[in-house]
Amino acid sequence: MDETRVILAHSNDPDQYKIATYIKNGGYEAVRKTLGHVQPAELVEQVKASGLRGRGGAGFSTGMKWGFIPKDIYPRYLVCNCDESEPGTFKDRLIIESDPHQLIEGMILSSYAIESHFAVIFCRGEYFEGLDRLREAVREAEEMGFLGDNILGSNFSLRMVVHPGAGAYIAGEETALLNSLEGYRATPRLKPPFPAVAGLYQKPTIVNNVETLCNVVHIVNKGVQWFQSIGSNPKNTGTKIFQVSGQISKPGCYEFPLGISLRMVLEAAGWMLPGRKFKACYPGGSSCALLTEKDLDIPMDFDSLAARKTMLGTASIIVMDDSADMVKVAERLMEFYQNESCGKCTPCREGTRWVVQILSRILNGGGTFGDLNTVNDICKGMEANSFCPLAVGAAPPIMSAILEFKSEFEDYIKRNPNADKNPKMKVSYPYL
Ligand SMILES: Cc1cc2nc3c(=O)[nH]c(=O)nc-3n(C[C@H](O)[C@H](O)[C@H](O)COP(=O)(O)O)c2cc1C
Repeated sequence: MDETRVILAHSNDPDQYKIATYIKNGGYEAVRKTLGHVQPAELVEQVKASGLRGRGGAGFSTGMKWGFIPKDIYPRYLVCNCDESEPGTFKDRLIIESDPHQLIEGMILSSYAIESHFAVIFCRGEYFEGLDRLREAVREAEEMGFLGDNILGSNFSLRMVVHPGAGAYIAGEETALLNSLEGYRATPRLKPPFPAVAGLYQKPTIVNNVETLCNVVHIVNKGVQWFQSIGSNPKNTGTKIFQVSGQISKPGCYEFPLGISLRMVLEAAGWMLPGRKFKACYPGGSSCALLTEKDLDIPMDFDSLAARKTMLGTASIIVMDDSADMVKVAERLMEFYQNESCGKCTPCREGTRWVVQILSRILNGGGTFGDLNTVNDICKGMEANSFCPLAVGAAPPIMSAILEFKSEFEDYIKRNPNADKNPKMKVSYPYL
């Protein structure tokens, strides 16, 4: 099946990052026809009606989030979340490197909608090329009058700043990001209040993902009905950039309507390497439960994956073929979460470390069957008691690996001559 390229329509044009090429390809038309011609509240209603849901992981309605801003509190801020540190996720990088003005245009429109005059792009610090492209694009946009005072003669003014992150996965969590922007350590804040009510410097702040903000350009240009016509159902509209990585023939970004089957995305990515069979994948980055062969025809949309007790997340499909060792996968992933835990809450700080220790012991031939129950109990504790979603997301990839590939864990345990003799497992994901 051919891709439906909307956000990535011009990503292969080597000059698309320059403002002249962006404008030649229809860029900044949405800003021209909106500023001073459409009321901000109307734009919020359009985005609400389009059904656009956040592309940063949680899939929350964008228009609804914008509508949560208290009517009478100013200033308001728009923050673009380009921290992009979820394993397997690399779509925002492609956008900011190949088409940074699309993001800037989406941010001008979104700032206008929420009546913000100051916008920040919080960009992963390791994205050197992307940061350069963004800074240059902001400069070009200022020079051409798309940013600054009285944009295109309207009475709307907007300043935009590009801010590099210091390299922490947790800084992508929206409240930790705001702490980082304010100069504090990137640890999450208690919610509520949500950022839309009290965010940056305690003022109403909308945090949106890069891909979410880019979608606003196309909703304005092509209309709400057009956007609604793409996707599997009214709750899953528009396209999604699927990122396919791992043991796959053609890793990369593929844009399809929401609701395309997992099989079709994997086929677009060239399927498995020669001689290999599909074994499993994480469908939405690593912070979700595994899908296996029986799930190949599942629609890749927010609700179908939630019903299967996993997540669309960032739509980053991490593929494992039949050569993958699921115990090593589980241990490696938990090591990531352990390293990235900010340490603020005990279940995450200690839980991730304990699970790494137990899984390493199993891998090194010292595991017991009881260890699997202990891992399960720790993961349940992390899911239920952590302060923020980092550890909540760390549990399902491990629990689902044990549940779906129990025999691989047992094979390692059987290498331990002193292992307990009662292989009765309590692992019960999804337990809710
Ligand atoms: C540990 C963690 C890391 C996250 N990293 C990112 C990220 O890099 N980019 C992003 O857009 N959202 C990330 N999120 C989700 C944000 O908190 C937030 O939901 C999102 O930026 C909202 O934008 P959206 O509504 O456009 O999806 C992360 C969440 C968690 C818990």
